[in-house]
Amino acid sequence: MRVLIVGATGLLGKEIVRLLSPEHQIIGASRTGSDLSVDLADKASIVSMYRQLGTVDAVICAAGSAKFAPLEALTDEDFSFSLANKLMGQVNLVRCSVGHVTQGGSLTLTSGILAQYPMQGSPAVSIVNAGIEAFGRSAALELQGKTRVNVVSPGWVSETLAAMGQARSAGVPAEAVAHAYKRSLVEDITGRVIQVAKW
Ligand SMILES: NC(=O)c1ccc[n+]([C@@H]2O[C@H](COP(=O)([O-])OP(=O)(O)OC[C@H]3O[C@@H](n4cnc5c(N)ncnc54)[C@H](OP(=O)(O)O)[C@@H]3O)[C@@H](O)[C@H]2O)c1
Repeated sequence: MRVLIVGATGLLGKEIVRLLSPEHQIIGASRTGSDLSVDLADKASIVSMYRQLGTVDAVICAAGSAKFAPLEALTDEDFSFSLANKLMGQVNLVRCSVGHVTQGGSLTLTSGILAQYPMQGSPAVSIVNAGIEAFGRSAALELQGKTRVNVVSPGWVSETLAAMGQARSAGVPAEAVAHAYKRSLVEDITGRVIQVAKW
């Protein structure tokens, strides 16, 4: 399959590329350092990316940011940034994909565990992640028979915990999370939120 991976240079993106490359043709995208340049926060750049890309069999997004800060510290700009970037960025990735994904192809988005299990500092991230999951289920319904749509919801990733000075063992290695994206790509599933967490 010809697969676009947005966020291909990131922690999760690199592992997804590594896992899928032997069997699929991968086109990477991110703001810098990939085959194609895209900024999820800028719809015009998504349109431009698809124009250069032509047609693919699948789109995987492992990118998007939201502000992590306590409720009382979050500013209007923090909420706007979070909604425009990780949430509307992925919504627009789906909206703009029409005509660029082959019949029966798939779209895979990324949310995160803070949708279901909030913590101190997660209000903006939790809204965004929950919104992506609601949108993914709804888009899957609308695109039934044309394009499959799933969302991968990673828990804390081991490498990220280690970078924050916390125990790796409390998370799931990025390599393991990549398999959830592969499931969405190759299995005949749609409208699913695939959770990958260490319980
Ligand atoms: N790591 C975790 O513990 C964890 C847990 C749950 C959920 N997640 C979610 O999983 C996704 C990937 O996480 P990660 O840890 O792999 O992140 P990461 O290592 O920071 O990588 C992010 C990737 O996305 C690209 N990117 C960032 N902003 C972008 C934008 N506006 N437009 C296009 N590309 C952009 C980056 O490249 P450029 O900077 O060059 O654009 C990079 O390729 C994120 O949505 C994150 O919230 C991560």
